[in-house]
Amino acid sequence: MTRHARRQTETAEAPLQTHLPDDGLQGFRTDGYAVLPQRIAEGALEALRAEADGLIRRFTQDGFRSDDYWHFTPAGTHAPVLYRIHNLESQGSPTAARLYADEGPLHPMAASILGVPVRATACAMIVKLPGVAAPVPWHRDRTNVPPHTVCNLSVFLDDSDGGNGCLEFVPGSHLTSGAEEAEALQAQGPVRALPLAAGDVAVHDVRIAHASRRNTSPRIRRSIVIEFAPAELELP
Ligand code: NI
Repeated sequence: MTRHARRQTETAEAPLQTHLPDDGLQGFRTDGYAVLPQRIAEGALEALRAEADGLIRRFTQDGFRSDDYWHFTPAGTHAPVLYRIHNLESQGSPTAARLYADEGPLHPMAASILGVPVRATACAMIVKLPGVAAPVPWHRDRTNVPPHTVCNLSVFLDDSDGGNGCLEFVPGSHLTSGAEEAEALQAQGPVRALPLAAGDVAVHDVRIAHASRRNTSPRIRRSIVIEFAPAELELP
């Protein structure tokens, strides 16, 4: 995917602030999300994809089931559809576990974004299987922390666009009251789709309203999501 294809469906007005470097951090504060383009090298991506394929095959071919392998069975079928592998750092997948570990490559990015020393607090793989993946409904990951305090970094293993269920956000909704429901925020809009290329890292404030659509394409869409919080903060 070219850089041009990554442009958003709607363009925000450029904020008049000059004290932060123009590397997505300002977008994170004003919009609640940003892209750190091409942060994961191809070799590391290949290793993550191979490992992801192995985990997914455990479910789809070997019949492995666990509380960490979240799935649903579409009405009228008997075929369970995997959509999330939770506690990814504990699934015997060392490459993904390194992303979560204290010395992992995402920690400096999260520390720079949040402006404090950080720790990883959750790790999961989002799986949108071709043709069968359901939409992820509008939601806010957390509203029990202030804005700009806790973020999710998503490492994209595959190109992601409208066809295979890219992320969609309501920009600025991380700044609204925690009592606001994600669906109401989505109805007020605007909604922006965020196409990404494999190797990109997306960051979003855990308070932002976001969602993704079903995967109607023949292309898989996998991302590894890691939540980062200030090292000193006890998450509520
Ligand atoms: Ni989410």
